[in-house]
Amino acid sequence: MTGGAGFIGSNFVLDWVANEKSPVINLDKLTYAGNLGSLASVATDSRHVFVKGDIGDRALVAKLLREHRPQAIVHFAAESHVDRSIHGPAEFVQTNVIGTFSLLEEARSFWSDLKEPDKSSFRFLQVSTDEVYGSLGPAEPPFTEARPYAPNSPYAASKAAADHLARAITTNCSNNYGPFQFPEKLIPLMIVNALAGKPLPVYGDGGNVRDWLYVGDHCEAVRLALKKGRPGETYNIGGNAEKTNLEVVQSICAILDELRPNSLITHHSSLITFVPDRPGHDRRYAMDARKVESELGWKRRVTFESGLRKTVEWYLDHMEWVNNVTSGEYRKWIDLNYGKRGQV
Ligand code: NAD
Ligand code: DAU
Repeated sequence: MTGGAGFIGSNFVLDWVANEKSPVINLDKLTYAGNLGSLASVATDSRHVFVKGDIGDRALVAKLLREHRPQAIVHFAAESHVDRSIHGPAEFVQTNVIGTFSLLEEARSFWSDLKEPDKSSFRFLQVSTDEVYGSLGPAEPPFTEARPYAPNSPYAASKAAADHLARAITTNCSNNYGPFQFPEKLIPLMIVNALAGKPLPVYGDGGNVRDWLYVGDHCEAVRLALKKGRPGETYNIGGNAEKTNLEVVQSICAILDELRPNSLITHHSSLITFVPDRPGHDRRYAMDARKVESELGWKRRVTFESGLRKTVEWYLDHMEWVNNVTSGEYRKWIDLNYGKRGQV
């Protein structure tokens, strides 16, 4: 797998080791978003082999494929944050498009030399996003797999390009949340800011809608797609949990009011601050997950309400992990993204 030190990737490693017998080789560059601290519980487990490196390093990828002879590649590695892609798109094209292309070339070369039955059973799984479909109108039905791609940010465009190159088994998932998510994304950012008594910066009018899925449910769907998915097919994965951003932030505040009654702030929602909008901000995403349910037998296990509570509790219990990842580089990002919005 690639990108296994990031948010979803590290959850996938933990899920894999807990549920599967075969080992996982984890290639990750350890960018600002990658963190070996998230993998501490498998550090001495021989079924997880960590390799620091770039998916675009063809010699390294070729060597790893030769040495480990995997049955599949699950490709999570990416630059993943929309706001960063607006400030600096080059890295997104480099990793998400060119990096994916390099990985695919090396995968194809390895696969070409395989003998049957390994050749037919080999799989490349491209982990993608709902953002490639663009924005839904308020009354439109959720995205199906037949929806044409219409990306609206450099991040979404780079993922769309990679999906077109891969055309392997592709999973397109909605917004994930849960343990180990880097606190530049909405849910962990709001938890971390609220605990520090800092403003909770809601873009625009807070009415943008996302379809939230607990990360463990996404990991299970990817494992199922790897086992039962048909090559060339796309599977939309979603939480059937459409919420406006304001609803999400208010829910976090309500949970914190309950779990932290003695904090300096009695009503955490008093920290909510509306700030200038994200450019090109997609108004609404929602996934129609009927195909992954009927074809692969997947079903979301965790509701938004229970998953959000678990997530807030996880962050409260793992402030050391938070403090480790919110170092100098994180501060620079906060200044860049929120400084111009009048919030630092
Ligand atoms: P993340 O930013 O938390 O993690 C990305 C990981 O990839 C990091 O560990 C980073 O070090 C690694 N990486 C980056 N560039 C690399 C390179 N050139 N070579 C090797 N490793 C590199 O991302 P995430 O939120 O865990 O997302 C993982 C994947 O899932 C991405 O492909 C993303 O597009 C997709 N996805 C994410 C969500 C979501 O809500 N977070 C939803 C749907 C799909
Ligand atoms: O939809 C799937 C995508 O979800 C993934 O492909 C991306 O990798 C992942 O980062 C995520 O993208 P979003 O842009 O939806 O996530 P983010 O957490 O950045 O923002 C969620 C919503 O919250 C979005 O409408 C913007 C808004 N927002 C975000 C931040 C960081 C705010 O209002 N304020 C903020 O400070």
